[in-house]
Amino acid sequence: MPDEPLVLGIETSCDETGIGIVRGHTLLADALASSVEQHARFGGVVPEVASRAHLEALVPTMKRALDDAGVTLADVDAIAVTSGPGLAGALLVGVAAAKGWALAAEKPIYGVNHLAAHVAVDTLEHGPLPEPAVAMLVSGGHSSLLLVDDLTAGVTPLGATIDDAAGEAFDKVARLLGLGFPGGPIIDRSAREGDPRSIAFPRGLTAPKDQAAHRFDFSFSGLKTAVARWVEARERAGEPVPVADVSASFQEAVCDVLTAKAIDACRTNGVDTLVIGGGVAANSRLRVLAEERAAKHGIRVRVPRPALCTDNGAMVAALGSHLVAAGVAPSRLDLPADSAMGLTAVSVPG
Ligand code: KG4
Ligand code: ZN
Repeated sequence: MPDEPLVLGIETSCDETGIGIVRGHTLLADALASSVEQHARFGGVVPEVASRAHLEALVPTMKRALDDAGVTLADVDAIAVTSGPGLAGALLVGVAAAKGWALAAEKPIYGVNHLAAHVAVDTLEHGPLPEPAVAMLVSGGHSSLLLVDDLTAGVTPLGATIDDAAGEAFDKVARLLGLGFPGGPIIDRSAREGDPRSIAFPRGLTAPKDQAAHRFDFSFSGLKTAVARWVEARERAGEPVPVADVSASFQEAVCDVLTAKAIDACRTNGVDTLVIGGGVAANSRLRVLAEERAAKHGIRVRVPRPALCTDNGAMVAALGSHLVAAGVAPSRLDLPADSAMGLTAVSVPG
């Protein structure tokens, strides 16, 4: 439909410089530059390196997105940009660029929440999101369960990790197994050759005593330590470490907890749609287990394709388009880069 809004989205909260362009729910361009290789030797994202990489990548990525979509900045109805949460310096680069482009081209600007954008991106693949829905966002920087009543207004956090994020646990375990960075995709591959039942790793915050205070929260730091202890014991005994079995058993522990809590959140809130997003949503076992468990309770699982699960500009454009279509007022031009942005507002108010 030609009268649907044409929205450009800018994402720079971590190590991906993403610029996406959507019309309504249709994805026209999703240009991405990643600095992940520059962080690999440190085993994690180095904020200053990420900020500098965004600065270098933004203009060429913008050009590529506009070319791919076959539009100019003048054609765009609104610019959306990740205001937070994320790395302060990295966010600042995207927010400053978005303000510059909005001012120069006289376009409204929407500062949006990164987590809400991870939910909104699914509309590009599966159409409008039934509300209420439960969203589980699992990435290198966040692990949350959210109740999505109205994606234009605010989202209710149900729970979150109390220590490491799920992706961070994958990255740390991959590191201690000497597998490289980022660890998620490597462990996912290695796990296919292993037995997920070979080692009984702990399931954090699932004991009856945790039900009251942490029913929908996650904890992965104990699991990571358990894997480290198990590997150390093997090495001390001079025995080889069965990397595939450790990968599979670790992955099973993470996916077991994530899916059990997500389904519990749906059932407790009487919700029959579960959206999964964030880099860890690309995990093959997580997808299968979520489908399997959800089906038993008549819950539909929506997971965008892997390229849309990890950080990208399309997700920001998708949320922007949703806000424009709903008539939400744009943000003020002095909108902040807010590294600790909460979820009470999906976008920075005007
Ligand atoms: O959403 P994302 O691109 O960036 C943020 O952290 O915000 O997520 C990256 C994270 C990394 O920790 C990476 O190891 C993890 O997602 N990841 C995976 C898989 N692919 C990426 N974790 C498990 N299995 C995967 N297949
Ligand atoms: Zn993310």
